[in-house]
Amino acid sequence: MGLFPPTPKYTFENIPDLTGKVAIVTGANTGIGKVTARELLKNGAKVYIACRNEEKANKAMDDLKAITGKTDVQYVSLLFRNFLALTDQLSEIGPWKYSRNS
Ligand SMILES: NC(=O)c1ccc[n+]([C@@H]2O[C@H](COP(=O)([O-])OP(=O)(O)OC[C@H]3O[C@@H](n4cnc5c(N)ncnc54)[C@H](OP(=O)(O)O)[C@@H]3O)[C@@H](O)[C@H]2O)c1
Repeated sequence: MGLFPPTPKYTFENIPDLTGKVAIVTGANTGIGKVTARELLKNGAKVYIACRNEEKANKAMDDLKAITGKTDVQYVSLLFRNFLALTDQLSEIGPWKYSRNS
């Protein structure tokens, strides 16, 4: 095994068209999560960024829209006190069925 990891075979350029796909990315206000959200958005997915801090999320969404030229990005709250609102949002995202009682 070498000192450095091998050159990746799958890169951003290999991401297919994601039009019609829906993605939920946690921790997407910064770092790896934000890069993941950026690439999904850039390639046509509808992206929900799930974060604890709405202010940071809004800032990240502004950045992502400016970088990608895409606008199909929305915030969902990861705060536990907003959990019921979150599950209502997720049940709209589908295609799965979500039940609060399950
Ligand atoms: N960056 C790298 O090169 C690298 C390499 C290998 C592994 N990793 C690992 O990959 C992970 C992400 O790295 P990163 O550089 O993207 O980290 P980061 O920039 O610190 O981002 C962390 C994200 O996770 C969220 N988060 C942290 N604790 C949370 C919690 N308890 N509940 C909900 N959200 C939480 C943060 O939200 P808030 O803003 O609300 O805190 C933020 O959005 C880390 O575990 C890191 O150790 C990173």
